[in-house]
Amino acid sequence: MTVKAIPVPVRPATGEVVSQTLVRPVSETRATLQQEKAKWDAGAACRELVATLQGVADAGRLPRVDKVVAFACNRPSRAERVERVATEHALVLSIRDFFTRHDPTTPVRCYTQDPVYEDVDQEVLGEFGMTVLDNPRGFLEVDESAVVFSQAPDIAVRQIMADIAKPALMIWDRVCDIPRKEPITSLPVIEEMIKNYTEFPFPSELAGFGSLLAIYVRNY
Ligand SMILES: C[S@@+](CC[C@H](N)C(=O)[O-])C[C@H]1O[C@@H](n2cnc3c(N)ncnc32)[C@H](O)[C@@H]1O
Repeated sequence: MTVKAIPVPVRPATGEVVSQTLVRPVSETRATLQQEKAKWDAGAACRELVATLQGVADAGRLPRVDKVVAFACNRPSRAERVERVATEHALVLSIRDFFTRHDPTTPVRCYTQDPVYEDVDQEVLGEFGMTVLDNPRGFLEVDESAVVFSQAPDIAVRQIMADIAKPALMIWDRVCDIPRKEPITSLPVIEEMIKNYTEFPFPSELAGFGSLLAIYVRNY
């Protein structure tokens, strides 16, 4: 019997392995994102999120923001659980839109990093004003005027942030919860970081994510 080797497709420029799972076409990916964004924008979870951010702003406690950096939102071009993925991206866009309305004189850039993005995602997300960044460029974009979003990442986003930056805001897994890929030893570092932040509830149930997120606003 002859065993034939099947070559693994690799991107010539970067040497990265190309995903073997189904990639939906641009038109479908765009349509899902538009549809889920419209649902998210009109829903109670988005209203509550915006109300919380507005409350912080009204109290004069909102730090200056000029970028939103999202991690691990997965790719909207995938075939399964696509509503959840699209909703996460819609949520990130609604944060960007809030800060754009809040201070129309400061343009708010919007970046997203996940190694699973395909060219289709890059194209469609670009139409929505999101720039896809390769690992680790997303981390390098995070500074004191950034909002960081991540939910259930496969990497220790919170620990990396605690090591390198003091973002203006984070919306991510509540500090008491350990996402499955984060080492338990990272908790003290994250808890130390969080002492400089005030926690506000995120409407996780309304968003239907099933995981518990929270909003952290820097105190100074
Ligand atoms: C469990 S999934 C969570 C996806 C989505 N946030 C959710 O809650 O359904 C973990 C995600 O982390 C992503 N990930 C892994 N390494 C990453 C990296 N270096 N930067 C950003 N995302 C990464 C994976 O590709 C995957 O999309």
